[in-house]
Amino acid sequence: MNEVRSFLRAAAATVLGACLAGGALAQAYPNKPITLIVPFAAGGPTDVVARLLSVNMSKTLGQTVVIENKLGAGGTIASAFTAKAAPDGYTFLIHHNGMATAPALYRKLPFNPLTDFEYVSQVIDVPMTLVGRKDFPPRDFKELVAHLKANGEKINVAHAGLGAVSHLCSVLFRQAIGVDLTTIPFSGTGPAMNALLGGQVDLMCDQTTGTTPHIKAGSVKLYGVTTPNRLRTMPEVPTLAEQGLTGFQMVVWHGVYAPKGTPRNILDTFGRALNLALKDPAVIARLTELGAVIVPDDKLTTAGLQTWLQQETQRYGPVIKAAGQFAD
Ligand code: MLT
Repeated sequence: MNEVRSFLRAAAATVLGACLAGGALAQAYPNKPITLIVPFAAGGPTDVVARLLSVNMSKTLGQTVVIENKLGAGGTIASAFTAKAAPDGYTFLIHHNGMATAPALYRKLPFNPLTDFEYVSQVIDVPMTLVGRKDFPPRDFKELVAHLKANGEKINVAHAGLGAVSHLCSVLFRQAIGVDLTTIPFSGTGPAMNALLGGQVDLMCDQTTGTTPHIKAGSVKLYGVTTPNRLRTMPEVPTLAEQGLTGFQMVVWHGVYAPKGTPRNILDTFGRALNLALKDPAVIARLTELGAVIVPDDKLTTAGLQTWLQQETQRYGPVIKAAGQFAD
């Protein structure tokens, strides 16, 4: 009888142990879908990159990384939302230079990019392209500048709102050529591109991750690239600097953020999955095809993003003040 009791006790202990272990595993991160917030509309360059990464990261993490497009105010609504989200590892944000420009652009910003987030990693750098609707009369950059000077505010330039890189690019471009054009805000350059393809707007500055398929299809006119050097993907296309537009260069960088207080081990797990996605040959091939450049390993880190954000915030402040673009 004693033997039976001992056996039952041992069996019960084994079952309890297994349950506890199972419980511990069930608690392990991640144990439910993770939201990756995109601050602009679906179909735009940030969304395209986020979706590409999320598919790969979901496999590594064993949980779906769900993309949520939270639109408005040039990305600041999404950033404010992320800053206030629970720091439990289930909300992340992918954002670009807009994180560094927002403090100078918005007088009443409801979050502080330098203190309200945890920093996962930088991701990619992306060149911008200046594109026009297919039937826009100027055939090249020289003709474009002459056309803009002759028509001024009759020309519509699409962008994704104050804080968007498409907006900043259009402001710097207008400043560089000394012409006032009419700007039309959209919730992202995805819908802005639809308007350009439909001929409702004339011009747009957007990332190659958004414009490349349309340039290759010949459905938009390309006037130049905003990088210091020509692109590997379109070596025949001159930079804007080569075409005489000096002092005007733009490269878009992206970073991944979490709410302040998200535990270190969770940031590391998510960061590792991101890092692995960026080492995957299929992801590399697609990003390269779209003109993006994966940042070097030292930037694929918390410090890599945090230090860069600090530098960029300082760099953009005076540039934006000089351009005189603000919102309350
Ligand atoms: C987008 O994803 O729609 C763009 O990155 C917005 C922008 O121009 O900043």
